[in-house]
Parts: sequence; C-alpha cells; structure tokens
Amino acid sequence: MPRYLFPTPKGSEITPREVYLNRRHFIAGATAAGALLALDGSVKAAASATEPLKFSEGKVKALSDKPTARELATTYNNYYEFGTAKNEPARNASTLKVRPWTVEIGGEVAKPRTIGIEDLLAMELEERIYRMRCVEAWSMVIPWVGMSFSKLANLVEPTSKAKYVKFTSAARPEEMPGVRTRILDWPYTEGLRMDEAMHPLTFLTLGMYGETLPNQNGAPVRIVTPWKYGFKNAKSIVRIDFVSEQPRTAWMTAGANEYGFYANVNPEVDHPRWSQKHERLLPAFFASRETEKFNGYGAEVASLYSGMDLAVNF
Ligand code: MTE
Repeated sequence: MPRYLFPTPKGSEITPREVYLNRRHFIAGATAAGALLALDGSVKAAASATEPLKFSEGKVKALSDKPTARELATTYNNYYEFGTAKNEPARNASTLKVRPWTVEIGGEVAKPRTIGIEDLLAMELEERIYRMRCVEAWSMVIPWVGMSFSKLANLVEPTSKAKYVKFTSAARPEEMPGVRTRILDWPYTEGLRMDEAMHPLTFLTLGMYGETLPNQNGAPVRIVTPWKYGFKNAKSIVRIDFVSEQPRTAWMTAGANEYGFYANVNPEVDHPRWSQKHERLLPAFFASRETEKFNGYGAEVASLYSGMDLAVNF
C-alpha cells in the first residue's frame, strides 16, 4: 500500500497547546439530559450541525485518561471518503446528507429489517468514555453515546449460520469527494467475528460529547470497538450483514499484510512500516506512552482470543 495513505501528521495539523488549553474541555459528569455543552465559535465552525442527545451514564468503567478536547476529536480525523489529510473530513463532510438515513440489516437473520435513524435515536442510549487507538500510533479518549451493538443485533435474531458481521459505510460520490478517487475500494467495509460483535463493549455509536455525531466522525451511526485499531470502526453505516464467512474488508483489500482482520491493539505486533509499542495520546506530539495490549481492555476481551496466535491473526 502506498506510504502516503497514513502520512505522519504535520505539526500544523495538531491543535497548538495554547489553543486547546483555552478551550472549554468536555466536562465529565455532564448531566443525563446531555446538556448541550457551551462550545466556542471555532468549534461551531466544524463541518456539521449536531443536536443534544438524551442518555444515561454508561456502566462501563472509563480508563483513567481525561477525554480529549472536543475540538481536536472533531478536526483531526480519518475519513477517507472526505480526503486523506486529517483536517479534510471536518472541512469537507458537511456535504453528507445524514437525514433521512436508514440502516439495512440482513443476511443470516430471522427478521431482516430496515431501521431508520430516528428509531435508533429513540432507543435507550448511554455514554461510554473509550480510548480510540489508531493504527497510526496516536490515540484519543472520547465520550461516545450509543448502545451495545448486541441490542440492535438481537432485534433481527441472527441465526446459527451467522459467524461474522459485516458493516458497510455509505459511498456517495456526489456527497463524498474521496469516493470519486480510488484511494480505497469503496464502499468502506469492516467486519467482526460474531462473538466480538456481540461483546458488551462493542458500541453502536450515535453521538459524542453529549450530541449527535458530527459528520466527520461518522454521522449518523458508526461502530466503535475500543480494543481494536481505529480502522475497525466503520463510519456512516448503511448496511449490516450477518454472514457465514469472514468478510474481506476495505483495508485488507488495500494491504492484507498491513491491516489484518482482527486488528487488536497489540504492542507486540509491529505494523510492517512502524512500531506499535508506543503511542501519542493527542495532543501530545511525541509517542511517549506505552501502548496497552487490547488498548487497556484486556480484562474484558482477552478470553475471546484464547488459543489464538495473535501475531498470525493480527
Ligand atoms: N470509516 C470510514 N467509512 N472511512 C474511513 O476512512 N477511517 C477509520 C475509522 N472509520 C474510516 C472509517 C480510521 S483509520 C479511524 S482511526 C477512525 O475511523 C477515526 O475515527 P474518528 O475520526 O472519529 O476519530
């Protein structure tokens, strides 16, 4: 895969320290009403309008790190449908039409259905603060709002033939400039093994920082699997298929030797072109922090892989 796909961020793409220090940071313990956080003008300049959400505080214990400033999490993105530079999704994603929006759910299920975004938003939502570790060796801590993916899966009743779940993102050349290029094999697809998908940590995500997702972060619905590299977390999902065979993902098509199906965060398995031993917890500039196996969620998920060689199944 070409080297430029995952460029080293330039200093100019990183919010300067004095800028983020002056922002009002996310306030932990925001009320269950999902109080609309008072954000300053430059944050509002981000690509898309967001709305406050109702949610409860999630039961999953947050890691010790404080949430990343919202401005950084919404302006330093990977969303190749809107460009490969980190600042392009925030600039370009306002063209994505996120209403109306439906997700088609099918494959090996007893009750296939198409569900509208309004119905998803009307379900009981909770907030979970998860660290997101990108394969490019940076990380952020984000307060997501959504529900366990298993809640949605149970609505369609997967059959015993369902061994994997395949997620398909929207691919609309007229709304997404990146889809007019051949940087990836569109649509963006990702997948999980059934037990991974049904694990309580796997999060069907509808919002962040108490509001609906900004377009650049994958509005209106995405998946978040916190123990895996960020690329597993498909954005702007339009289809979910329960399938019997391991699906081929967009990144595996781009470079199977670099982006494995499992993609568990693992300091012991280097990416062929860089080490995964350390990471930059943004906005830190240097990768001075040790990467934790399974991104710190080993107690919850390591048993899913007992008996597997994770250097082979990377
Ligand atoms: N989903 C789609 N459809 N397209 C993408 O390019 N990039 C992935 C993932 N989901 C991507 C995607 C990668 S590499 C990362 S690190 C995360 O989204 C970034 O999510 P964030 O911008 O919300 O932090």
